[in-house]
Amino acid sequence: MSGIVGFVGKEAAALSLLKSLKNLEYRGYDSVGIATVTDGLLWYGKDTGKLDEVWQKHCLEGLPGKIGVGHLRWATHGGITTANAHPHFDCRNEIAVVHNGIIENYQQLRSQLEAKHRFVSGTDTEVIPHLIEEYMDAGVSLEQAVRQATEQIRGSYALVVVSSREREKIVATHRNSSLVVGLDMDRKFVASDALAFRDQTSQIAFLEDGETVVLDEDIVFLDREGKQSKKVFTQMDPNWNMATKEGHDFFMMKEIAEAPEAMRCALMQDEKLILEMAMDILRSKQVVFTACGTSRYAALVGRYLFSKLAGKFCDVIMASEFQYFSDSVDRNTLVIAISQSGETADVLEGVKKARENGAMIFSLVNMVDSSIAAMSDRVIYLNCGPEVGVAATKTFVSQLTILYLLAFTMANRVEEGVGKIKDVCQKVEEILKRNGTKLRELAERTKDRDDFYYIARGINFAIAAEGALKLKEVSCIHAEGMPAGELKHGTLALIEEGTPVVVICPKDFTFEETLVNAMETKARGAFVIGVSDERNPVFDEWIEIHKVEEIFYPLVTVVPLQLLAYYLAVARGQDPDKPRNLAKSIVVK
Ligand code: AGP
Repeated sequence: MSGIVGFVGKEAAALSLLKSLKNLEYRGYDSVGIATVTDGLLWYGKDTGKLDEVWQKHCLEGLPGKIGVGHLRWATHGGITTANAHPHFDCRNEIAVVHNGIIENYQQLRSQLEAKHRFVSGTDTEVIPHLIEEYMDAGVSLEQAVRQATEQIRGSYALVVVSSREREKIVATHRNSSLVVGLDMDRKFVASDALAFRDQTSQIAFLEDGETVVLDEDIVFLDREGKQSKKVFTQMDPNWNMATKEGHDFFMMKEIAEAPEAMRCALMQDEKLILEMAMDILRSKQVVFTACGTSRYAALVGRYLFSKLAGKFCDVIMASEFQYFSDSVDRNTLVIAISQSGETADVLEGVKKARENGAMIFSLVNMVDSSIAAMSDRVIYLNCGPEVGVAATKTFVSQLTILYLLAFTMANRVEEGVGKIKDVCQKVEEILKRNGTKLRELAERTKDRDDFYYIARGINFAIAAEGALKLKEVSCIHAEGMPAGELKHGTLALIEEGTPVVVICPKDFTFEETLVNAMETKARGAFVIGVSDERNPVFDEWIEIHKVEEIFYPLVTVVPLQLLAYYLAVARGQDPDKPRNLAKSIVVK
């Protein structure tokens, strides 16, 4: 996904755009660009690289004008080049467009337009300013031209458009890609999410799919048919105003440290809603979780909990593969979609198909008003505030907390469950305090290794997989997580002298068996890092966790693994908040 912003006011647009883009940096950091308008002239600057570098290199602060648009790119169509950076322009550089999403029919549109129009980039976006140019040349207003252009395009888009031909306004619209408007007296904002202007205003209004907004002296909303419509501005959730590092070097560290608070907030749910959802899950003929990445690992823990506590078997299907099982999804199916962003395209696609087939949809999301939430029959919000680091950390423990809550409710033991989760919360707090120095030293010691392996059994297998994903994502070290028993079926061949093997083996019913697998790796030279509440001679390093009831180990084992990934990223000079090639939510398939 990319980040788009727009500003109209009585002060320099460039400064406001910079503030907004800074807040959206987690959405993409392949390239940066802005365009402003003043005295009938369009000014712009764009380049590859991170926001601060591009801003300084091109002195973007100096761009004149009180109206402008800005963009942070996460590349999809076209390489990471200056020509492909947004904004994109019409033939006369009078119309500037920033876009988030994918235009599916851009090749067809481009070949129609190429006879008359000059294209300079390899992006799908560039067809949009040329389409707008066509309509404006035919004599319609900027907003009409934007609306007519969007009638031609298929796919997902959020657009903000500015033109020196109509110098007092910006126009924004979207389909299948979020867009929020902000208002503060005579300053007006638009952005792909409300975090963008969290430090400039708290009055926000969400645009519905197909709606358009025109920002000038006034704010005019147009519905899908182009008729003026009314919109009520609401107050932004105060939690979303707290997205600062608060003294930490990186958001990832701050967000790992917020785990106990996130767990407490996740517990604050409408009891009736949870009870009704638990009953629906128990009643459903087939229950399928669908999710990607870290959220899928939360689903794997959820599957285990539903089975263990409530005797309910469920399946977990990776969202990018879910649509291929749609033959088996019908009105007897309950789909539980897990997605912190609520915008992941793979999850959205599967959910859409399941819905068409008559399935009931439940979702666990963090972003209020997100597309997946809108498509669900029932939604549980994680309530953990914004997660800015691209790596999911506190949202993962929030997802787990809600799955515990549901499972205990399904087992008719909700009060007992809540009490136990609160106890585990304290243990997580202590683990966070206890392990910092040790994990930092361990990271220094292992930072030059090329491969890490993570093994565990039972409910903790998902944590092995999550530990490995986190490491790959933020430190760019190759890692694999797998059930400990699976190791000998192939991967053991890769273990050599000094290979780090992280063994998650709490003192539960999996302890003895997992230790046997750890010994198998040690016999081949592995450097064994044990994550356990009991020390064992097979461990070369011991990461001590607290003793908890068996089903709760995922919550206490995942936090040190998040920290290990973080310290390894820092030790290798990587920015853990902005992992290479990734973005916070993946809105492409
Ligand atoms: C997690 O650290 C990753 N950034 C990634 O795997 C993520 O969990 C995945 O893209 C799913 O995102 P979602 O929860 O927003 O749907």
